Amino acid sequence: MNTPNEAVAQALQASLVELVDLSLVGKQAHWNVVGPQFRSVHLELDEIVDLARVASDRVAERIATMGVAPDGRAETVADGSELPPFPVGFVPATEAVQRMTQAMDTVAVRLKERILAVGDQDPVSQDILIGITDEIEKAAWMLRSQLTM
Ligand SMILES: [Fe+2]
Repeated sequence: MNTPNEAVAQALQASLVELVDLSLVGKQAHWNVVGPQFRSVHLELDEIVDLARVASDRVAERIATMGVAPDGRAETVADGSELPPFPVGFVPATEAVQRMTQAMDTVAVRLKERILAVGDQDPVSQDILIGITDEIEKAAWMLRSQLTM
């Protein structure tokens, strides 16, 4: 049986893994996007990478604050993240946006599950996850809007 702090730290650790992976997916898309919308999508993807990196740092430092060692190693991210892998090679802007927004939606859904799970035990960690979810959902809306008429 986990103590409340262990359960919160585990929820944060799972979020850390997904946020690191989201930043990697975003960079892969940033480097490989092609097509008429290249410049705007390329630049916007980098803004999302920055968002994910800042968010992962916030989560990792909350884990450490709780007395648990955060784990952002490559093998931990590869083993623990369930985001679909981004394909190898150049990707048209439409597909890059679809894949990235799907990854962001997946992260947001999981963050919301954890927001509910940790709320009773640690409102401070809950607040951090709420803020990150808001930023990811807003950024996904802005990215997705590039494709919507
Ligand atoms: Fe770049």
